[in-house]
Amino acid sequence: MKAKLAVLISGSGSNLQAIIDAVATGGLDAQIAAVVSNREKAYGLERARQAGIPGRYFPLKPYRDAQRSRAEYDADLAALVSEYAPDWVVLAGWMHIFSEEFLRCFPNRVVNLHPALPGQFPGAHAIDDALAAFGRGEIDHTGVMVHLVPDVRVDEGPVLAQEAVPIRPGDTHETLAERIHAVEHRLLVETLRKLIG
Ligand code: GRF
Repeated sequence: MKAKLAVLISGSGSNLQAIIDAVATGGLDAQIAAVVSNREKAYGLERARQAGIPGRYFPLKPYRDAQRSRAEYDADLAALVSEYAPDWVVLAGWMHIFSEEFLRCFPNRVVNLHPALPGQFPGAHAIDDALAAFGRGEIDHTGVMVHLVPDVRVDEGPVLAQEAVPIRPGDTHETLAERIHAVEHRLLVETLRKLIG
């Protein structure tokens, strides 16, 4: 049986595309059972559509508007993801932080990709934070990590893989992001391949 993946995204989905391509070319013996986005316009949903993968849009806003709790959203999202019975839930640019209501449904089965090295620059601005630290002369490289998400800490948890990415003088957000993404696409697929075994 092929390992089943549910991939959660919020944006462009270039990492999703790397997984789609690896599956299509036989580089990853898995099935992408579903792609879930919290943003309707996420290009990753279009990538899923083009690849014939079920795509689901599941926004938080209606819950907020109805004064429903974040825990309720997370529990309903977990139920939606569970419909696809994934072996692994892959957060590939998913921009929400999970509560226990989600994580307890997939214990040690949630994998996150983050554009920084362990312990450095958690949160949504890791690339800009690294550039600022470079500008202050504090670092000469940043990196990428893939880790398990055992609990609600942000961008922390058992590290499955990490790789340094150099920062070069004159780098902008765009040039550094491009270098980071190239590493992410490879490292995420390699890590999933090892996990799936
Ligand atoms: C990646 O840099 C990932 O590490 C971060 O969000 C970005 C998603 O990019 N959490 P994409 O949507 O896969 O292109």
